[in-house]
Amino acid sequence: MLHGSSLKEGKKKVKKSRKVIIDTDPGIDDAIAIAAALFDERLDIKLFTTVAGNVSVDKVTKNLLKLLAFWDKEVPVAIGSDRPLLREAINASDIHGSTGMDGYEFPESKYELLTKNHAVIEMYKVLMESKEKTTIVGIGPLTNIALLLRMYPECVERVEELIIMGGSLARGNYGVLSEFNIAADPEAAKIVFESKMPLTVVGLDVGEKALVLPEERATLQKMNKTGDMIDHLFSAYRGGSLDTGLKMYDGCAIAYLLDPEMFEVRESYVTVETQGLLTAGATLFDLDGYLGKEINCRVCVDIDEKQFRRWFLEAIRKCD
Ligand code: BDR
Ligand code: CA
Repeated sequence: MLHGSSLKEGKKKVKKSRKVIIDTDPGIDDAIAIAAALFDERLDIKLFTTVAGNVSVDKVTKNLLKLLAFWDKEVPVAIGSDRPLLREAINASDIHGSTGMDGYEFPESKYELLTKNHAVIEMYKVLMESKEKTTIVGIGPLTNIALLLRMYPECVERVEELIIMGGSLARGNYGVLSEFNIAADPEAAKIVFESKMPLTVVGLDVGEKALVLPEERATLQKMNKTGDMIDHLFSAYRGGSLDTGLKMYDGCAIAYLLDPEMFEVRESYVTVETQGLLTAGATLFDLDGYLGKEINCRVCVDIDEKQFRRWFLEAIRKCD
């Protein structure tokens, strides 16, 4: 496929019971994305995998198991990579708190949901054993998915779509030009971008427009126990501000999975800078084809902000 521009993605029909793996590092905005996904009947979540990102892999796994206990949901959880492929781990505890999910007293983690095998093995099993292709949603650093591609390259054929929250068409939130999930493991992102997996990217610039505003917080508080829990997490979350709006980066990946018509999408070649002294982790979306490379992703370039806010409230209303 050569460089071009097609916006057909926005009209895509969502299949019933789409098989999904969610690779995550909860993370306050991850927790909200997980709520929206778990309570949507169009999704059949086969597996959660965890990855070091917002905080250590032990902490994010514990957080995920707490969320599943809170909702009393039974989805297997596989522990993944505890560090990036080549670099020292970074974290975002300044945004999500030292536990990675500060702000709420959760019930004890559901440790019985842990699988015996590493996340990469469990992903492989789900992909290969399912009759239909599976969609992977990556809302943390891409380390597990890169390892999957290196260990089991045949998996590419079994992936319906990989939707990631990561990268930026504009500036960064970790470095001047780098978004956190990509900055955490640029080499993994490069492997994933070059894999030929059908890839859709929801980047930082779009996530910055996916806000929960103060007046919507008030509605959430009274909605249900999930709304109340989210409201508590928001008091601790530093992704945006309580006055101007809290940014639902990872929620955007689930919004795209379920209701892509709220996004404007373009096709592009994307790569990641791994060598730059000052720019490692920067994503280059070559929307105008300067590099003469084949298209390897769809990238969300805009979002209907009002529609997202409605979607978000409806998604949480469906939760317990
Ligand atoms: C991404 O970084 C993390 O802190 C969030 O959970 C999100 O996945 C935003 O840059
Ligand atoms: Ca995340």
